[in-house]
This record gives sequence, structure tokens and C-alpha cells, in this order.
Amino acid sequence: MEKKKIILSGMRPTGKLHIGHYVGALENWVHLQDSYKNYHLIADYHTLTTSLDTSNVYDDTIDMVVDWIASGIDPESSPIFRQSQVKEHTELFLIFSMLITKARLEKNPTLKDQVRDMNLQSITYGHLGYPVLQAADILLYKGDLVPVGEDQVPHVEITRQIAGFFNEKYSLPGDKKIFPIPEPKITKFARLPGLDGKAKMSKSLGNTILISDGIDEIKNKVKKAFTDPNKLRKGDKGNPDICLIFTYHNKFNPSQVSEIREGCTSGTLGCFDCKMNIANKINDFFTPVHNKRSELENNLDYIKDVLRDGEKKAKDVAEKTMSEVREAMKLG
Ligand code: TRP
Repeated sequence: MEKKKIILSGMRPTGKLHIGHYVGALENWVHLQDSYKNYHLIADYHTLTTSLDTSNVYDDTIDMVVDWIASGIDPESSPIFRQSQVKEHTELFLIFSMLITKARLEKNPTLKDQVRDMNLQSITYGHLGYPVLQAADILLYKGDLVPVGEDQVPHVEITRQIAGFFNEKYSLPGDKKIFPIPEPKITKFARLPGLDGKAKMSKSLGNTILISDGIDEIKNKVKKAFTDPNKLRKGDKGNPDICLIFTYHNKFNPSQVSEIREGCTSGTLGCFDCKMNIANKINDFFTPVHNKRSELENNLDYIKDVLRDGEKKAKDVAEKTMSEVREAMKLG
């Protein structure tokens, strides 16, 4: 039997996740579970690039893991682990940081976006180098594929460059290369727009529906959502193509999409009814996740066990890779 390809996916621990995370990442991870060997990394060190306050990182990690498992990740076959608990990440990060220039990192478009208003001189050394830590995250597990959104593609590109350069310089006896050259696996249904009409749901914009939100919260949130500004009341003709609620119907209520388009454009369907309809559909969609979630919330010891177990499995793989790296570099 052919060996399964390896997927390394990663996310910063941001606490409870929103339905944009579900559509943009989680659903895809779950879908890939059977055909690949998956590792799910919690990028807790990466949070230091944007905030040095670490007091919530642990709780945010637990909340996120609950959402992962409730959404269908099987931690038994796909280890879930924190970057900070596997020391090999920092070792490989150090070695990799010698293989890439500062100029190359300064050209990283994701970094340019993040520091838009800041001067490059004022960011930390670690922030500039965080794609190098990400390269170590991916390559310690010999990831072949990395599921990411568009914004993370440049980091996979940096990872490919580092892997290629390392392989060129160092190898095991018989010229055996240690690292694969990983590829990004772009998520298809890229992103859900936020409730305010912005292109992306994001906690910092306060425009999200959380995976864990119940029906009342969902209703309250969608009530205030941005819709076609020319459709003020039932009877007015609307344009579903500029309405974010319509995008949600596409995803969570596909069987009624044409009926809703017709009702909106002719004016027979009012926005309030349309919103209450989608609130119910979103709630129905996530009901199995909510049920699993409340089970898990009552059993946080299980979540801690998942991390302990995942970190042990990750550590075994990471140690093996590091011993190959040491052997190839004659650092042993
Ligand atoms: N850099 C990613 C982010 O900011 C998180 C991340 C860290 C990651 N390590 C990773 C993603 C490895 C994929 C693979 O969202």
C-alpha cells in the first residue's frame, strides 16, 4: 500500500472559533482526515508576534480544541499538539534561521500587510522570523501539504525555499534528502463575509457568528447584519448578489437558494424573514457540533488528555527528524 501523504495544518489559539473558521478550514481538515496522515498544530508561540500577554493562551487553546473536536477532528488518528510543548520546534527554527536572509523575510507580503502602518524597523526579530518558525512546524513532521488560505501562501513559499536549500546543503548517507518540498493546499470555499459586509469574519472586527452560538445569539446577530441598502422594506426589490445573508444561504441553505433569489429580487421576501430563515438553517447545520461541544465542555479532562497524547506522538516524530538533521549536519 502506498504511504499516506502528510498534512500539517496549524492555527493560532484564538479561543472560540467562528463559522468562517469552520467553512474556511475545519470542514476541509475533517474532509482530508481519511486520505492523509494529519497533524494539527496549535501555534501558541506565534501569538507572541501580536501580543506579549500570554494569560489567556491556555484557555484559548482549550476553547479552540473543543471546537476542533466537536467539528469532527479525530484526535486519535490526527494528533493535536501545542508548538510550545515540543522543544524541537525551537531547535529547527534556530537552524533554519541561518538559511534565509533578512531581506527575503522583509519581502514577505503577509508581514507587509500586518505592519502596514508600522515601520519595519520597529517590529521584533521574532516577528520578522515567524515564517521560519512556521517552516520548522511544517518540516519537523515532513508535511507534504499545508492547508492554508491565500494569505498564508507566501509562508509555504518560504518553507519550500528553506527545505530546498537545506536538502541541497545537507543530506543523509547515500544523498538521502531529509525534507519534502511542501505544497499549499488552498481551501476552496475561501471565506465567509462578516456580518458587517467586510470580506472576512474576524474576531477583532466583531463581525462573527461563533460555532458555539445558540439560536438566540445567531438571530440577534443576523438581525443587525448588513444587507442591500436599497431594500428598506418588504416589497422593495433587492439584489442578492451584494447581500452577505445570501452568501450564507448559499452555504447553509443550498436547497432554497433559487427560491430566495426570486423572492428577494421580486420583493415578495422581506429581509427580516430571510434573516430568521438563515438563522434557523445555521443553527440546524451546527446542532450536531453543539451537542458534541456540550459533551466535551463537561469533560475537560478529556481535552487535556488529547493534548498530552498528541504532544507525545508529535514529540516522537519531531525527535526522529531532529536526529536526522543532526546526523546530516554532523552535529551529533
Ligand atoms: N502562521 C499561521 C497563522 O498565522 C499559523 C501557523 C503556524 C501555521 N504554524 C503553521 C499554519 C504551520 C500552517 C502550518 O495563521
